[in-house]
Amino acid sequence: MNKTAFDACIGIVGAGAIVASSHLPAYRAAGFRVGAIFDADPERARQAAAQFSIPRVCATFEELLAAPEINIIDIAVPPDFQPAMARAAMQAGKHLLCQKPLAWTMDEARALVEESERAGVKLAVNQQMRWDPIIQATHRLVREGALGRVMNVSLDESVLTDWFQWTWIPPAPQLDLMLHSIHNIDSLRYLFGEPDWVFAATGKYPEQRERAETRSITVFSFPGDILAHMSVAHKNWSDDQLCEWRVEGTEGIIRGRFGHLDDYPHGGPDRMEFVRRGEKSWTTIETPGRWFPDAFRGPMGSLIEAIRTGGAAETNGRDNLRTLALVHACYRSAEERRAIMSPSRI
Ligand SMILES: NC(=O)c1ccc[n+]([C@@H]2O[C@H](COP(=O)([O-])OP(=O)(O)OC[C@H]3O[C@@H](n4cnc5c(N)ncnc54)[C@H](O)[C@@H]3O)[C@@H](O)[C@H]2O)c1
Repeated sequence: MNKTAFDACIGIVGAGAIVASSHLPAYRAAGFRVGAIFDADPERARQAAAQFSIPRVCATFEELLAAPEINIIDIAVPPDFQPAMARAAMQAGKHLLCQKPLAWTMDEARALVEESERAGVKLAVNQQMRWDPIIQATHRLVREGALGRVMNVSLDESVLTDWFQWTWIPPAPQLDLMLHSIHNIDSLRYLFGEPDWVFAATGKYPEQRERAETRSITVFSFPGDILAHMSVAHKNWSDDQLCEWRVEGTEGIIRGRFGHLDDYPHGGPDRMEFVRRGEKSWTTIETPGRWFPDAFRGPMGSLIEAIRTGGAAETNGRDNLRTLALVHACYRSAEERRAIMSPSRI
């Protein structure tokens, strides 16, 4: 394949809520071509195709893989189906954007990444929070040195999440860290690198019907003596839904509020402010766009760019193994009630 002439044409598997609300609007805005869609529920695929002018609705996954114009498969189905679909797509020579988690286990995730490398196709994971406006603005300010030396980071979420809108989530063996906070963890890695150690505690609520944890509190120690604290709770029944972000440095402080969990999956805008040491007033930092749907342009755009240039996608499979390892390290920490050292090596 001529790399510079690569003409991306996406085939989507799954036409559920997230595809209709985020993948497809973001791809349309970015001008990415979607050539075909398949869903086990054909009516859902037909509806998405009609709404977003997708020229082809496939009757089977095999038909999607056999379509010669499709060169990227975007998987958006529940995680149990993903490994087999990813393998079939690789064998058909298609590049891949996979859902998070790439797999439930490290062994399975590693095997998928290695198989994609052997097959000579690019595999990236849809960890789109990196492109959330607050995370992007924080990344810029940290890189510019506006905060001086970063010391403390906190991400506090206390929200009401209806996990029952997905039939497969309530019985899942792992919940908050694996299915939700994996985005937070990936973004912390993106901003501050690989932590030296992690300490996590997880919990449930007395009345909950979900099988696994719906609360977690985690502390990360990043190189440079950065301490980060992530607190996530999913059964806040009040009208005070909390989703706050704070990064304190020796020369500047960021404070912000994520809007993505307002009216999920539509979301609202983020808000962010910055104060420099010695200044009295906080300055509003522009955070254009939203996580849903705008950030969904990021992982696919980065994958397309990587295919074109022969480089690595921002959220490539190798990188994502470190995010997944950190998630597993959090579970191990919670289970063994101790800090886990060098967690990304798990
Ligand atoms: N921010 C994010 O990254 C984010 C947000 C929400 C959901 N997700 C993930 O996206 C995936 C889909 O989530 P959703 O919210 O759209 O769920 P959903 O339940 O609304 O839709 C899932 C769709 O997949 C289809 N499907 C299920 N099994 C299939 C199979 N074997 N072959 C073909 N189609 C199949 C279903 O018919 C349904 O249309 C999940 O893995 C979920 O974890 C990611």
